[in-house]
Order: sequence, then C-alpha cells, then structure tokens
Amino acid sequence: MSAHAALPLAILISGRGSNMVAIAQACAQRRIDARVNHVICDQPEAAGIARAHELGLATSVIARARFADAAAFEAAMLRALDAQAHELVVLAGFMRILSPQFVARYPGQMLNIHPSLLPSYRGLNTHRRVLGAGDTHHGASVHFVTADLDSGPVVLQSRVAVLPGDTEQSLAGRVQASEHIIYPKVIGWRAQERLVFKEGRPWFDGEPLDEPMVEDFRAPEPP
Ligand code: GRF
Repeated sequence: MSAHAALPLAILISGRGSNMVAIAQACAQRRIDARVNHVICDQPEAAGIARAHELGLATSVIARARFADAAAFEAAMLRALDAQAHELVVLAGFMRILSPQFVARYPGQMLNIHPSLLPSYRGLNTHRRVLGAGDTHHGASVHFVTADLDSGPVVLQSRVAVLPGDTEQSLAGRVQASEHIIYPKVIGWRAQERLVFKEGRPWFDGEPLDEPMVEDFRAPEPP
C-alpha cells in the first residue's frame, strides 16, 4: 500500500468501454496508483455500463436525449461529476464534444484518447481514412483536453504499423489493443506525479513535454 490515497478518477464513456475496463483493471491490480470512483455514460444502451457493473464500479447514466439542450446536459454532467471526488476526468470513447466552459472546469485535469497519431486525423473514421491514404503507420494518442477538439497537448502515442491486407477492423483491433496499454500508463504517470500539467503544458519527470512520447507496437509475427 502506498502512503497516499490513490488518484480518484471519473471515466466518461459512450459505448463499448474497453478502455474503461483496461483502466479499471490496471487500478484493481495495483499496476497504477489510481481508483475509478465513477463511470458516467451518456448512452443508456451502451455496453460499457454493464461492464462497469461487472467490475463493481459506481455508474451514472446521463442520457443526452433527456435534456432540452447541450447546456442543460452539461449541467447534469457536472452535477454527476461533483457528486464524487475525482482529480482526473478520463474521456474513454465519450462521443460528445464538450463546451469550452465545461473543459475550463478541469484545467489540466482531463485526458482523452484519440485513435490516430495526432495532429493527423482529428475527428471520426480514422482507421478508414488511414487505409484510404495508404499510410504506413497509424496509432493512438493520449492527450490533455483543451477547448479545441482533439488538439490538446499529446503525452503518449502508440505507433502501429499498417500491414498489407489490413481491413478497417483488423487495423482498429491492433490500435485499440495498444490503447489499452498506453492509456493506463499515462494515468499511472499522472498518479505518480511524473506527469503534471502546469504553465499551460504537460511536464514529464520535471521537463516540459514539447513533443509526445511514442511507443512502437510491433506487428505480430506471422504464424
Ligand atoms: C477508442 O478507439 C478511442 O480511441 C476512441 O473511442 C474508442 C472507444 O472504445 N476515442 P472503447 O469504448 O473504449 O472500447
């Protein structure tokens, strides 16, 4: 046991929740010094809610459809977030764009994972766009959230080779497997305070992080 309390997390999801599960398992297995206090989902049908329940996590569903507008929805999200202590808000497949006012509530306290080597391929359908462009590499980026979509400073990227014959599904599978490694890792660094956000940018091990760190994920050996 560490002398201090584990870093309390709120995780926001909209879908499958595989990153949420990877993070929760890293916490439960004490691979990172964090704990998931609350999983909040904006989609009542999301598979991730059942997965959170299986893991014994506290969940809230804040269905966007129940609110007249985005401001009312965000106010409800903030109430749900404020109901539990947390020091880091982790967006894990949360498919809504948050307003600058919402993001400003968590300066340097909100992370996101995006399935591309940012700044390339912001937005949706990244695997398809990478294949269409004939790129040799793809990957995922863990970044701090700022008011500009998919534009906050990147901490760590996974770099995944595109293989001959890759489909959207096969490529997505390898990129997502890499996400499940890099996202808990970054949260663990934050919990250890190796990663901090100050003066408007990330610092790692006492040095400003001007360029993302990159981890290469090798393609599996052919059988
Ligand atoms: C991930 O690919 C992530 O990069 C993107 O949304 C997907 C979420 O997947 N932001 P899951 O819900 O964590 O399985």
